[in-house]
Amino acid sequence: MNHQDSAAENTTAPHGAAARRGPFRAGERVQLTDERGRMNTITLTPGTAYHTHKGFLNHDLLIGQPEGSMVESNVGQQYQALRPLLSDFVLSMPRGAAVVYPKDAGQIITMGDIYPGARVVEAGVGSGALSISLLRAVGDNGYLHSFERRQEFADIARGNVETIYGGPHPAWKISLGDFQDEVVAQEEPGSIDRVVLDMLAPWECLDAVATVLAPGGVWINYVATVTQLSRTAEAIRADGRFTEPDAWESMVRGWHLEGLAVRPDHRMVAHTGFLMVTRRLADGVTGMSPKRRASKTDFAQEDLDAWTPAAVGERSVSDKKLRRAARDASSTVQTKRNQEQSEETETRHELEQ
Ligand SMILES: C[S@@+](CC[C@H](N)C(=O)[O-])C[C@H]1O[C@@H](n2cnc3c(N)ncnc32)[C@H](O)[C@@H]1O
Repeated sequence: MNHQDSAAENTTAPHGAAARRGPFRAGERVQLTDERGRMNTITLTPGTAYHTHKGFLNHDLLIGQPEGSMVESNVGQQYQALRPLLSDFVLSMPRGAAVVYPKDAGQIITMGDIYPGARVVEAGVGSGALSISLLRAVGDNGYLHSFERRQEFADIARGNVETIYGGPHPAWKISLGDFQDEVVAQEEPGSIDRVVLDMLAPWECLDAVATVLAPGGVWINYVATVTQLSRTAEAIRADGRFTEPDAWESMVRGWHLEGLAVRPDHRMVAHTGFLMVTRRLADGVTGMSPKRRASKTDFAQEDLDAWTPAAVGERSVSDKKLRRAARDASSTVQTKRNQEQSEETETRHELEQ
């Protein structure tokens, strides 16, 4: 492929794809792995250096080099340099709330049947980890409307999404407020193909989900505890406008690979959350009852009092920490934009000469 062909391909490439190819450019994030497998992510800035207790590495050594290059610090420390993958980025980006882990994001995309062009609503946004995967799945011609009740989280998420996509994503809209109020105010009844909720109390959103979801539409929930899982399932059953919910969890165990010592890793992330999926029935239809009902489906006041953020293990994050994460998220995207602008100006000057 000659240079012109690749330029033509870039203009039609999906949003953010062109920035993930070619030599390293100033302003982008690069993941450095040292000889002991330790990873660090830096943002390439001309004229600056990455400092460690073992010397420094000039960023200029990387700018213009192909991805996968090996570079050396001033004291001979070797680093392997690669662009972070989506899964690396999500685990190292600024965050305020717990993020949906890549293994669960993969399950949500597949089991929630999120497809290119789909109209999807999501809440809460948290740090935007799941929004990044959902945007990839719906593509430039899809639609993702994300709802978040806290401004600081919305700011962090926006910074992270714009960093990975190199600017605003054409399919993304983010609104502030409670999902259950805002989604019905902003979306037409029956206009949404998929609903994805990652929040403390998905059962509070049941009526709103039933209103905006099209018949046959999929509603997928991600919750951290069995008590939330149980309450959501019982609320869905009692409502009657949805199919019988299915729930599961996934565990991913890494393997150690070294000669004949091939065995499971000693450590793993054993629990992240539970997933539950259900589908909207057509209006006026009565859902099929499950074969066997749980013996106790009602909740006592004692049970209801248990669903506080602290009781289900949600850590409260200080406003100061959130403001710092939002600043980090937006400064990464700003550095990148400034660099792109100065490169654009330089190219324009060169063309004008
Ligand atoms: C665990 S975090 C979401 C993490 C996010 N999915 C990610 O991958 O980064 C839960 C978020 O839901 C928000 N939230 C909780 N209830 C909400 C509601 N009813 N409407 C909108 N946002 C809500 C919280 O403020 C919090 O930011």
